[in-house]
Amino acid sequence: MTTVVCPGSFDPITLGHLDIVRRAATMFDDVVVGIAKNPGKSGLLDLETRAELVRAAVHGLARTEPAMSRVRVDVVPGLLVDFCREIGAVAVVKGLRGGGDFDAEQPMALMNRHLSGVETIFLPGDQRYAHVASSLVKDIVRHGGPVDDLVPAGVVAALRTALGQQLGRSVAQPVRAVTPHGRA
Ligand code: PNS
Repeated sequence: MTTVVCPGSFDPITLGHLDIVRRAATMFDDVVVGIAKNPGKSGLLDLETRAELVRAAVHGLARTEPAMSRVRVDVVPGLLVDFCREIGAVAVVKGLRGGGDFDAEQPMALMNRHLSGVETIFLPGDQRYAHVASSLVKDIVRHGGPVDDLVPAGVVAALRTALGQQLGRSVAQPVRAVTPHGRA
């Protein structure tokens, strides 16, 4: 059985992340989504909330995509390479939206291999999600904009709750509706 880890901050999970997990699940027997802290990012949602949102998204797809029923979700408590060793993962799978992502990911991939020999496999992100980033999603929700076609169900509500706590006030509801062709 080949185990791989799809690691990330997932603060929050987006449809771009979910697409990478789905594609990994079609190629590998055992896929573990690893929710980890990135010291370069401040973080909004706590790790367990992030994990619950990923679990809900994976569970939702498992009804129609059998491969998703094999996907597990866990918090990475320390170094990613230690987590890989503990669960017997042979590789890390990461999506790349473009060159900027590669520039950020390459040093981590090389460092992880240096530390433990674990390899990183890069998948090109689907062009439909090339503009989708967790940081942008949070900024849009913070300002009352619509992101429901960019993230799995439940994410917007969790972001609104967390941002409301952070700001000490409720976050404005989006005023524009989603249409099949974009924004009304
Ligand atoms: O979604 P991100 O922020 O690009 O994911 C980066 C992440 C969380 C996978 C990375 O920061 C990480 O692996 N963190 C765990 C701690 C660790 O192993 N740090 C050394 C990385 S070489």
